[in-house]
Amino acid sequence: MDPATNPYESDELLQQYLVFHYASGPEQFPYALGGADALDFPRRCAQEGLDLSKLPAGARALDLGCAVGRSSFELARVCGEVIGIDYSQAFIDAGNRLVAEGRHPATRLDEGSVTTKLVVEVDAQIERSRVRFEQGDAQHLRDDIGQFDCIIACNLICRLPEPLRLLQRLPELLKPGGQLFITTPFTWLETYTPPENWLGDGAQDSFAGLRRALEPHFKLDARWDMPFLIREHARKFQYSIAQASRWFRA
Ligand SMILES: C[S@@+](CC[C@H](N)C(=O)[O-])C[C@H]1O[C@@H](n2cnc3c(N)ncnc32)[C@H](O)[C@@H]1O
Repeated sequence: MDPATNPYESDELLQQYLVFHYASGPEQFPYALGGADALDFPRRCAQEGLDLSKLPAGARALDLGCAVGRSSFELARVCGEVIGIDYSQAFIDAGNRLVAEGRHPATRLDEGSVTTKLVVEVDAQIERSRVRFEQGDAQHLRDDIGQFDCIIACNLICRLPEPLRLLQRLPELLKPGGQLFITTPFTWLETYTPPENWLGDGAQDSFAGLRRALEPHFKLDARWDMPFLIREHARKFQYSIAQASRWFRA
């Protein structure tokens, strides 16, 4: 996608994702109403998506479509090396600033043109030097990227023109016994993915298509629903329910 028209290069989505990934619960959703169960999605992906008890010491992790990097930092609590890759240079620049400085300014939209200035931070317990962010295309990863003990791809596949191209590369990227965690709301849109590439025979059954692409190289370990909440402004939120699945490399 052309950087000039890619929404993930815009300042609007950069600020929205800094808030989504790093702002506290009350900063994002200051209501005692339904919705709070969907907060903290990037942290939950890293901590609940993988079976952490089965990761080797010093594990090597890959976070595909990492955006501004919260899941990558959370993976660094248990992994020795984490590479976060995203197509958006603006998101990767923010991730690299968080590696270097541990904090980043963010602008939260409240109402109309009214905003609140925040400073979002990486938890000081996290060893930030374990994380490296790179701009790149998940469908065309560099040849020398090596193999991983775990890979996560959260809400990425329905943003790719050719999701199968990534899914077919995954077996060679994961070590035997390695873990793969994928979430997706299967929000297929022609602006990102031509309909003939929607998984599951044109999204008749997207999960069946995902399964067909991953088996027999991967064994399904668990499948569940994961809500996530993205704040647009103080009174408008996107509440989505991703399909989460954990797979082991055969
Ligand atoms: C819906 S967001 C999800 C971000 C993050 N994983 C999360 O769960 O918050 C999709 C992300 O995929 C990135 N992306 C889109 N196409 C990509 C590609 N070809 N390769 C890598 N990242 C891509 C976007 O820039 C964006 O950061």
